[in-house]
Amino acid sequence: MNPTKITVVGSINMDLVTGSPRFPKQGETLLGTSFNRFMGGKGANQAVAAARLGADVCMIGAVGNDGFGSELLAHLKQEGVDTAHVQTLSHLPTGMANITVAEGDNHIIVVSGANFGITPADIEACEARIAKSDVVLSQLEIPMECVITAAKLARKHGKPFVLNPAPARKLPAGLLELVTLLTPNAYELAISLGLPEDTPVETLIRQAGRPVLMTRGSEGVVYNDDNGTLHRQPSFKVTPVDTTGAGDTFNGAFAVFLHEGMATAVRKACAAAALSVTKAGAQGGMPTLAELEAFLAQQK
Ligand code: RIB
Repeated sequence: MNPTKITVVGSINMDLVTGSPRFPKQGETLLGTSFNRFMGGKGANQAVAAARLGADVCMIGAVGNDGFGSELLAHLKQEGVDTAHVQTLSHLPTGMANITVAEGDNHIIVVSGANFGITPADIEACEARIAKSDVVLSQLEIPMECVITAAKLARKHGKPFVLNPAPARKLPAGLLELVTLLTPNAYELAISLGLPEDTPVETLIRQAGRPVLMTRGSEGVVYNDDNGTLHRQPSFKVTPVDTTGAGDTFNGAFAVFLHEGMATAVRKACAAAALSVTKAGAQGGMPTLAELEAFLAQQK
């Protein structure tokens, strides 16, 4: 069987990651425990997650003409991601993310740089690749007009458009209708829909009026079917080292296995996400297909 063709329209960041015993209070200086540079960006993470699982992945995005940019490009190529549609922009720096890992969780501040230098025309130039994709994946770390353009092209060519609405932003009118499947957490879905953050999960999913696959961290995922019935997939128990990129691993893996049906794709994506948190860095623990299969074989 041919590998699943996935096109990721999204961000590429260098992650500057500080380990800390706890998160600092406002105005407080803390002594950290570690500092590392990791390859990241929600788009690139999803691309690498899918490529490690054997998909034919093409990334559409941009880096700056600087050291971080060339390292990230080389890394994507090494992971087997097609970077023919990743531009190197000379007027903007490569995107970076300032990440604090503490208390089993993370705080992230992204400085978008070149990720916000791509335009709808750049996405339109990739129409041929979108037209031959099995799944198109996107997130919200690039200009909204680019996400909309990708969604329209996916719709034009009858391709599933999976949107991971992170970081949370209210979705403009019309975009939701172009989305085949939305993959938010509860907070992101509330913000996407312009609803209060404490809206119950069931209400949020109903209000979306679309297929939603909601990630719930250690509680697993919940998703609706065409009849509005909710299904749940519990998470797999692992010892977390760094939860950064777990959602990205979930999205990349889900896209790879979507052709196997929702229940199987969701289960495998949850397993991939569980493995991803067992190593440091957004991409550090992303499994290969063999690693994922071995892990699933150990589960009851
Ligand atoms: O989802 C994790 C990612 O968010 C990090 O790799 C960071 O770059 C930010 O984009």
